[in-house]
Amino acid sequence: MTRRRMRRASAIALPLAAILCAWTVGGRAQDTAGGGPSSVKVGGEGKEVFETICQACHLADAKGGSGIPALAGNTHLADKDFMVDILLKGRGGMPWFNDMLTPKQIAAVATYVRSHFNSYSEPVTEADVQRIAGGAKASPRDCATC
Ligand code: HEC
Repeated sequence: MTRRRMRRASAIALPLAAILCAWTVGGRAQDTAGGGPSSVKVGGEGKEVFETICQACHLADAKGGSGIPALAGNTHLADKDFMVDILLKGRGGMPWFNDMLTPKQIAAVATYVRSHFNSYSEPVTEADVQRIAGGAKASPRDCATC
């Protein structure tokens, strides 16, 4: 009598477990597949950051085009503060990255772009990024008119 009851219980429980299992797996898959730009995962290498993010707009050779400025041979980038500032705050069609990239990644990509596509060999450090971020008056997120 008890045996029979148990068998009946598991006949219901097993398919239910299978359904629940498929549901949680499906739910989890959806979580990882979705997400906006802030969920993009990039490594700490400047080259990797450039190839994952920047080259979509500035192109692989960093020569830009159609409203996107060239980063290759760009004399504005002689000033590393200019470069870091624009990465932190964005400008016009250029997105800001202060909430997407770590100071280390910003330093790495700035160093990469300045030295690989230009001849500014002095590295941009994490301390530079923190100094410039600290001096920034208002981040775009705090700005009521942006
Ligand atoms: C969504 C497209 C887009 C992405 C992604 C993007 N940029 Fe830009 N970037 C622009 C546009 C558009 C401008 C010009 C902005 C303006 O002046 O209005 C710009 C301007 C710049 C400038 C200023 C150039 C100058 O001479 O004034 C720098 C430096 C720069 N981007 C670096 C980067 C780096 C490094 C990355 C990757 C971390 C990156 N950008 C990702 C679109 C983009």
